[in-house]
Amino acid sequence: PSSRSNTATKGWQKVGTVAQLDKTGQLLAENSPIGAVLVVGTSKDVKSLIAVNPTCSHEGCTIDWKAKENKFVCPCHGAEFARDGKLKRSPAKKPLKTYQTKIEAGSVFVKT
Ligand code: FES
Repeated sequence: PSSRSNTATKGWQKVGTVAQLDKTGQLLAENSPIGAVLVVGTSKDVKSLIAVNPTCSHEGCTIDWKAKENKFVCPCHGAEFARDGKLKRSPAKKPLKTYQTKIEAGSVFVKT
């Protein structure tokens, strides 16, 4: 369809490359135009990709992804979030913002 090239970029923000993501299973874009974005997963399993704003909803530290435990943990005061961004443990009070993710032409995008 002729609209394809429009939908490819409109409403989506590029946050990095597939190579960066697959190297470590994580891709952190600290200064993207929509703020910090952390993508977790592998391009080989696009459905399982997770993208969140990694800014802790407590006092703004950058949370870490714990692959083995399948959750995000804040290094500052121990708040925890599930892979879908849901709050699991205080002192944070709000969930993490999450984004839809897609991979196209070797780049990783999140929906703005
Ligand atoms: Fe994350 Fe306090 S800033 S728990």
